Amino acid sequence: MTKGSNLYDSSNSFGWISITLHWATALAVVVLWFIGKSILWVPTEELDARRSLHIVTGLSLWLLLAGRILWRLRVRHPRAVGQSDRTHVVARIAHFLMLTALAVMLVSGPLMAWLLPERTALANAALAVHATTATVLMVMVVLHIGGALKHLMFHDDETIARIFVPRR
Ligand code: HEM
Ligand code: HEM
Repeated sequence: MTKGSNLYDSSNSFGWISITLHWATALAVVVLWFIGKSILWVPTEELDARRSLHIVTGLSLWLLLAGRILWRLRVRHPRAVGQSDRTHVVARIAHFLMLTALAVMLVSGPLMAWLLPERTALANAALAVHATTATVLMVMVVLHIGGALKHLMFHDDETIARIFVPRR
């Protein structure tokens, strides 16, 4: 692929690969979060089926989510547009913290699923980590969406546009 193909990120723009991964991840995380939480809400007789649904969905999306984290580590985060150095650093740290939380979910989830039948201390620790990180991740996602909406409403810049279409 040539560099001008819009597939890859440039120093100040997301390419189609990053954009597709961003929205696929957003959908996957929200779906997994709600199925995960619903395990606590269903009647006891449906608990096993709901837990299995979460595990199967999580494992099916595992490669996509892990690949997305590795992708962002491999290609550097594009510079934010029209912002000070400080806001760019804060935004970048927030993005990397979300990816770190996602990585913790991807390790603690399968670990727990694997240890589940035995309900060992390690399984309980993995559940505590998984449940706490799920909450942290969702709080960060809400802040992230708030930040994006702030750009949409109060800043006349390309922050929102460039996570939908590559800018050149
Ligand atoms: C579970 C949901 C979400 C997660 C985990 C997430 C995560 C991220 C991450 C890690 C980045 C950094 C770029 C990258 O690696 O692709 C990013 C960028 C961005 N996200 Fe999200 N996101 C989510 C949902 C949303 C939603 C719903 C919106 C819109 C309202 C949004 C708007 C943006 C924007 C505008 C950027 C680009 C920021 C920039 O220009 O530096 N995100 N997101
Ligand atoms: C972004 C990815 C994920 C999110 C957001 C997520 C979210 C959640 C949530 C919210 C819960 C309920 C925790 C609680 O409040 O007690 C949960 C439980 C659980 N998750 Fe995940 N999860 C993810 C990935 C995975 C993966 C990849 C697996 C493994 C295959 C997995 C396996 C489990 C298991 C076994 C439980 C425990 C069910 C129980 O016995 O209570 N999760 N998850």
